[in-house]
Amino acid sequence: MREIILLIHILLAIVWAGGIMFIGWGVYPASMSLSLTIQRKLLTSLMKWAHHFLTLAGFFVIVTGILLGTILGPIRTWDILWDTAYGNTWLAALLIGTFTLVWGIIVGYREMMMIFTDDFLWREAEDGNKKPLTRELIRLAALESVEVICFIILIYLMISL
Ligand code: HEM
Repeated sequence: MREIILLIHILLAIVWAGGIMFIGWGVYPASMSLSLTIQRKLLTSLMKWAHHFLTLAGFFVIVTGILLGTILGPIRTWDILWDTAYGNTWLAALLIGTFTLVWGIIVGYREMMMIFTDDFLWREAEDGNKKPLTRELIRLAALESVEVICFIILIYLMISL
């Protein structure tokens, strides 16, 4: 049973972290070679679809992580949670994992949709003034990098568990 849940946990974690990084470092740079109208349409519909899918994967990574640490793992009492290295590392993973998921929903996705539905930014860019759009996209990349940093910390914590 533990092996099956661990397998599901790892596969979903690959989908969650890998999916976000692939969009950021694969799809987004590749879309830069398209016309602005197509780039906007592609990224909007991709994000609408991928957001639900990735959020669900992230949610179940946390659920399976909770099961692996508690019911199927060593954390059975509050003492084990507070007083052991395993308990502390698991708690840190739980907090960072939850923060990453909530950040992705509340900050990352919302900001991205605000930029992609802002007609002014895209009309200006099409008319040759790309500055406002570029500024917003750089701000978005900075916000999204919070998620990437959290994933790196999570992977480090998983190795130390
Ligand atoms: C992107 C996020 C995550 C990734 C990539 C990830 C990846 C992994 C990997 C590869 C393992 C297998 C480690 C091994 O067997 O040595 C593992 C195990 C585990 N993960 Fe995660 N995980 C993530 C998030 C979380 C979160 C948020 C929690 C806590 C709620 C968690 C809790 C656990 C637990 C308890 C185990 C079992 C460790 C053990 O007792 O051997 N993981 N994870």
